[in-house]
Amino acid sequence: MIIEVKNIDVFYGNIRALKKVSLSVDRGEIVALIGGNGAGKSTLMKAIVGLVQKRSGTILFEGRPITAKAVAEIMRLGLGVVPEGRRLFKPLSVIDNLRLGAYLRITNRQRHQVQKDLEGIFRLFPVLKERIRQSAGTLSGGEQQMLAIARALMGQPKAILMDEPSTGLAPIIVREIFQVINRLKSEGNTILLIEQNASMALRTSDRAYVLESGQISLEGTAKELLEDDSVRRAYLGV
Ligand SMILES: Nc1ncnc2c1ncn2[C@@H]1O[C@H](COP(=O)(O)OP(=O)(O)OP(=O)(O)O)[C@@H](O)[C@H]1O
Ligand SMILES: [Mg+2]
Repeated sequence: MIIEVKNIDVFYGNIRALKKVSLSVDRGEIVALIGGNGAGKSTLMKAIVGLVQKRSGTILFEGRPITAKAVAEIMRLGLGVVPEGRRLFKPLSVIDNLRLGAYLRITNRQRHQVQKDLEGIFRLFPVLKERIRQSAGTLSGGEQQMLAIARALMGQPKAILMDEPSTGLAPIIVREIFQVINRLKSEGNTILLIEQNASMALRTSDRAYVLESGQISLEGTAKELLEDDSVRRAYLGV
């Protein structure tokens, strides 16, 4: 397993946002985490990345504990993040956002590799190449989401956490985002995919977890969850 979350509890003040949550992601897998508003999905992602404190439990990355490590250290180990709301550097150009994505690596003296990676990124996202000098804040929503994914890839992560990449986008753009995710999977990437679009997420992933009120209520293969009556009623609108 590349990511292992074991029995973590997270509190905001007195409010318990995650209750004994356990989850794992294996190399090359796409694992979906679905759940409604306020279920704790982003909190779980922040807990893995080191943005919120864990009151109990353990998180392992490639078998090594990262539970108490700082964000920069965790990212340097090889965790890439596509945060909720994209969090681009909006006044900066597309190319500068991409270069910032490689920042942790540049400090690792891999500067020469960055130009080569940019070429790979532009093959995957031709739309970004056309807009290389445009400021990120002036891109369309879909283009911004592509840029957020591309920026994470520039860090050459061993695993990528994506928080609701399809939210707020038109259906045709949502399909494009999931096509990109499928392509990333076929290239061997490992992804933990947080989504409210359960239907697309389950059709794109290998395994999935359902988070409800801070607890994992169900887990299984994506196929099992797609066929599960409670999932169909609550998340697939069937
Ligand atoms: N910084 C914070 N301080 C206090 N409470 C918080 C904080 N961040 C999140 N919460 C609460 O924790 C719970 C889980 O929030 P979280 O953002 O993880 O949900 P989510 O599943 O990502 O929801 P959404 O799908 O709407 O993004 C919510 O009840 C939220 O109000
Ligand atoms: Mg969220």
